[in-house]
Amino acid sequence: MNKKIAVIGAGHVGASCAMYLAEANFADVVMVDVLEGMPMGKGLDLSQAGPVRGYNAKVYGSNDFKDMKGADIVIMTAGLARKPGMSREDLLNKNAAIIAACGKSIKKYCPKSTVIVVSNPLDLMTFHMQNVTGFPKNRVLGQAGVLDSTRFRTFISMELDVAMTDIQAMVLGGHGDTMVPLTRYTTVAGIPVGELIEKKRLKEICQRTAVGGGEIVKLLKTGSAYYAPAAASVDMCKAIFFDQKKLLPASAYLTGQYGIKDIYIGVPVILGANGVEKIFELKLSKGELKSLQGSAATYKEHLKIMGY
Ligand code: LAC
Repeated sequence: MNKKIAVIGAGHVGASCAMYLAEANFADVVMVDVLEGMPMGKGLDLSQAGPVRGYNAKVYGSNDFKDMKGADIVIMTAGLARKPGMSREDLLNKNAAIIAACGKSIKKYCPKSTVIVVSNPLDLMTFHMQNVTGFPKNRVLGQAGVLDSTRFRTFISMELDVAMTDIQAMVLGGHGDTMVPLTRYTTVAGIPVGELIEKKRLKEICQRTAVGGGEIVKLLKTGSAYYAPAAASVDMCKAIFFDQKKLLPASAYLTGQYGIKDIYIGVPVILGANGVEKIFELKLSKGELKSLQGSAATYKEHLKIMGY
């Protein structure tokens, strides 16, 4: 294939991204990681699944960033993951250094790419990546809202025992415990979820969604979730690759929308060949707006610590 997607980091999230990408069979996939031999091993393994799974995309790994050369889209997954008891912000300093190093390579080898950041703390790392690469802000975005929304959709489906694919949901805000599931924009085959689940129970489901990543960290004990984060990242990758103009939540750079500017945070966007092509400003309740602006204020403090 003459199109290429680069995945930085061949850990659980990176390798799962490579697997879903290979199965989607629309571009070659290179996984780059500094751990000696590991990305090559996983690449070879995934390649060898191709004849059985029916894909022809080349999948390979490398320890050398120059093998990302010419990639159209880069999915940045490298970085430490949370352990039980840690917040995403606890990863700040170590992952910022990893973003800085990888960002330089992206700039050098894939200067025309669009970058989807998955590393945590998500919104801050996306800001950092844009800064390091100097890419236009529409071409650097963060994956979080699709993951948070798919978690919300799953929990609603479990509650009602209806098809997951019938559920549309919108979760905004920072990728943290203060995220904002928007129940009035969440429907089951077009029926507002509030008509189907009583208020108190719905609130509990929103709360489970907000700490959904932490629930998995607690169960896994040695790291964080990877299948759903990878599936969400690949969904965004496809929206960009195929210019789908999908309306989905993503961490995007705000310039005054929602009374917030100069940071990245999760908002509804149109995702197409030009990355973030449009940001929608929904009417939020006072509480929702307060939560969004509260995350934004915390992020500004963190950015100061990072030297911005
Ligand atoms: C999660 C991590 C990946 O929410 O942020 O599972």
